[in-house]
Formats: sequence, structure tokens, C-alpha cells
Amino acid sequence: MKKIMILSGAGLSAESGIRTFRDHDGLWENHDVMKVCSTQGWIADRQYVTRFYNDRRCDLEFKEPNHAHTMLAQLEHDYRGRVIHLTQNIDNLMEKAGAKDVTHLHGTLTDLRCEACTETFNVGYAPQEGNEYCPNCGNKRVRHNVVMFGEAAPEYSQLQEAIRQCTLFIAIGTSGAVIDIIPIAKEFKHSILIDPKRQKTASKFDPHSYIDEYFEHFIQKKAGEAMDDMMAIIKEHMDYRL
Ligand code: APR
Repeated sequence: MKKIMILSGAGLSAESGIRTFRDHDGLWENHDVMKVCSTQGWIADRQYVTRFYNDRRCDLEFKEPNHAHTMLAQLEHDYRGRVIHLTQNIDNLMEKAGAKDVTHLHGTLTDLRCEACTETFNVGYAPQEGNEYCPNCGNKRVRHNVVMFGEAAPEYSQLQEAIRQCTLFIAIGTSGAVIDIIPIAKEFKHSILIDPKRQKTASKFDPHSYIDEYFEHFIQKKAGEAMDDMMAIIKEHMDYRL
């Protein structure tokens, strides 16, 4: 059966006003990533890290899904059970757009996690004040539910499973800096890359200069503007008898 694997990143939410990480004026331009998003940073200054995610959680309340979120949620609905959408994003804009089945590989901003029993619980857009406790075990050591550098990302196991099951790979708005999209693209005969910018390959020994050269289709547009082209390719793929 034909199935679609989607791997999305910060670029998907850029048109909703959420900054990406590594673009000009990206989050990591203004924040020391190892201070706010690593195990060492967390051990060194829990309050500083908690404030960083509090700001992002509060900011999220006023962000709305863009056209790409809406179209991807529609795609999930139209091809129920045949779309595996794995996102690196911790925002809830896909769910706000009506998606039901998106896997957040790096966690979720609107949840907190208990450090004792790993229970996660929804706090909406509220800042973590320090008086929270785990609704499951009552422990007060709760934290942001975001995977930081140096920590395990349990959902990554779904990447291999999606590669195994799917026939079309779509990468949307990710630089590949954390999850390398080249080896994934190599596993697929059919693939689409959506990014307004051409990203150079990392190694000078790479036979290709640009990441998009590993993809069957490169839609060099912003996510919201790329949806019609993407849908046309998907329709052809899903309708075409294997
Ligand atoms: N539409 C589509 N793509 C876009 C848009 C847009 N409107 N705007 C920017 N992009 C592209 C950029 O060109 C870049 O290739 O989105 C990509 C964003 O890359 P990063 O900022 O590196 O974000 P991402 O790949 O999601 O980062 C991966 O790194 O810091 C960690 O945990 C964090 O999940 C994150 C991970």
C-alpha cells in the first residue's frame, strides 16, 4: 500500500511567526543553544532553561496555523492511515489545524514532564512557576517536555519504521542539521524537499553540492506557497498503480 512519510521542521511554522533555529535571526542566533537546550545547561541553571521555555510557551498562545499546517492536516484526513507525519517541532500548530496523528520527535511545548515517573501533562500556555507537581506520582520535579541535546529521543525509533512502511518521503522546512535528511532520501525512489533556500551539503567529499540533489522533486518555496505543487505530486503518486 502506498504511504507517505513527512518529516517537518521549524520552517513549517515560520510563516506563523515562530522563528526557526538556524536561519538569519534564528533562535540559536540569539540564544546559546548549549545553555538553553542541553543536559549540561539544564544541570547548570534549571531556572534559566525553564524561563526560556516559559517564554516560548506563552508566545505560542498567539500563534495560528498557516496554510501549510492546514493542508497537511487535510492530507492526514484525506489519506487516513496512509500518512506518517513526524515533526521536529514542539509547537501545537498541526493540532490547532486539526491534525490528530502527528508524532513530535522533540517533545511538546504545551506539556510538562515528571522527572520521576516521566508522566507528561498538559499545561496549555501557562508558564511553569515552580509550584507544579506531577498529577501521577505527586513529585514536584517536573520540567519542560522538550528533548534537549545530550538526551535520548525515544520517538526516533519511528523514523526507521516510517522509512520501512512508506513509498513517498516529504521533507518540509528542515535544514537536516539534527536529523540528516540525505540518508532518508536515499531510501526512497520518490521524494519531495520543500525549502525556500538551497542548503549546501555538509561534507566537501559529498558527490552533491546541495541537499536537494538527493530528492526527486525540489520545491524551492516557502511551505505555505508550496502546497499546491506538493499536492499535485502526491495525487499522482497515490493514484498511480505501483
Ligand atoms: N517554509 C519552508 N521552509 C522554511 C521556511 C518556510 N517558510 N523558512 C525557513 N525554512 C527552512 C530554512 O531554509 C531551513 O532549511 O527551514 C529550515 C529550518 O532549519 P532549522 O532552523 O535548522 O530547523 P530544524 O531543521 O527544524 O532544526 C532541527 O534543531 O535546534 C534543534 O530541536 C531543534 O527541532 C529542532 C532541530
